[in-house]
Amino acid sequence: MREEEYKRLVEEIRNCTKCRLHATRKNPVPGEGPLDADIMLVGEAPGKREDELGRPFVGRAGELLNALLGLAGLRREDVYITNVVKCRPPGNRDPREDEIAACLPYLIRQIQIIAPKVIVALGRHAGRTLYSLAGKKWPGIKRAHGRAIPARIAGVSVTLYATYHPAAALYNPELRSVLEEDFRKLPSIIGGGRRGKSLLDFF
Ligand code: URA
Ligand code: SF4
Repeated sequence: MREEEYKRLVEEIRNCTKCRLHATRKNPVPGEGPLDADIMLVGEAPGKREDELGRPFVGRAGELLNALLGLAGLRREDVYITNVVKCRPPGNRDPREDEIAACLPYLIRQIQIIAPKVIVALGRHAGRTLYSLAGKKWPGIKRAHGRAIPARIAGVSVTLYATYHPAAALYNPELRSVLEEDFRKLPSIIGGGRRGKSLLDFF
């Protein structure tokens, strides 16, 4: 069953020591949201606040993310949110290749359990990782952002959509309007997704 499988996964993440990040974390951050969500958001890694609370996107970047979701007509409670790595890298450094590789099986299982219609990659680490899982060449965030591509990830057919990381827009205000524009495009991408109803479903 989906719930039981998910519970097992969360338990494994809570006890995980597969990479060095386990040694410095306060709390692992598995992710949160409804297991039947149509939309999954994937960030980079927990920050300070996330590490303290064990929840994704609860700091400043999270506030901006909530506002961006609002622009897309979405409520935070309706989407599933996680990160590429589940434990905070010390000092918020970038996650390293071997840490991403060690943690990736958890993200793959999350995608299989939730089977979202759309996966939104937040930032270049999530973008690069998800494009790679989909067997696609990563063209860089400048070219990939705001573009929806059909993909198969871990056996699940999804629409993959990359945008900038909300934290990047906190440091670079110019990115804010780009992020806004990308999020405003989300409803049409969700509507046009695999499980979206079209006339063909009725006739
Ligand atoms: N940045 C991320 O990538 N993820 C979080 O959960 C918080 C900030
Ligand atoms: Fe395990 Fe991932 Fe945490 Fe590393 S980051 S200890 S692989 S849960």
